[in-house]
Amino acid sequence: MRRWYDDVPTQAYPDDSIADDVRAIRGEDPTDLYVIQLDGRPIGEIQSYRIDDHPEYAAMVAIGRAALGIDLFIGEPELIGHGHGPALIRAFLREVAFPRYGVDLCVIGPSRSNAAAIRAYEKAGFRFVKNYLEPDSREPEHYLMELTRAELDAGKL
Ligand SMILES: CC(C)(COP(=O)(O)OP(=O)(O)OC[C@H]1O[C@@H](n2cnc3c(N)ncnc32)[C@H](O)[C@@H]1OP(=O)(O)O)[C@@H](O)C(=O)NCCC(=O)NCCS
Repeated sequence: MRRWYDDVPTQAYPDDSIADDVRAIRGEDPTDLYVIQLDGRPIGEIQSYRIDDHPEYAAMVAIGRAALGIDLFIGEPELIGHGHGPALIRAFLREVAFPRYGVDLCVIGPSRSNAAAIRAYEKAGFRFVKNYLEPDSREPEHYLMELTRAELDAGKL
């Protein structure tokens, strides 16, 4: 989780790391933030947004069609690696994000070095699209993956 927060270099932890979250909570950024709960216990966070609401990011990924993006982490070490990630992503997209934004495509861009996340997103149904650069990231090389609403519905996991 610390690595996830540290992707953008910061001066003061955690204040700088959560600055975007604070702006979203205040309504100054259209990103939607959600707590992930497992049997009533908060275990992580997932955020979603329209790619077009973030012009710099939209230019980086350059997908050329309307899409939503998601980012997430499970913050409890003992709950990582048990398949919760793919299951919650699929449920979140089906029940929350696709209906909310009315678009037919979801993208996600883990660091290229984050093999566990890439594998988890493949298990959720995402496919590799291309590599792209986030110049301000600690790890600039990212791995863009996508999943359409039709693919999600066809999988019905
Ligand atoms: C990314 C994340 C949400 C995935 O959820 P998860 O429930 O842990 O995912 P899963 O358990 O279903 O799958 C992890 C897969 O990665 C594999 N994996 C783990 N470490 C790996 C490594 N170093 N190299 C390759 N694969 C690895 C596991 O074997 C598993 O695949 P398998 O089921 O085929 O064996 C979660 O791990 C997490 O929150 N990580 C920390 C924060 C983070 O990296 N967030 C993503 C930022 S884009």
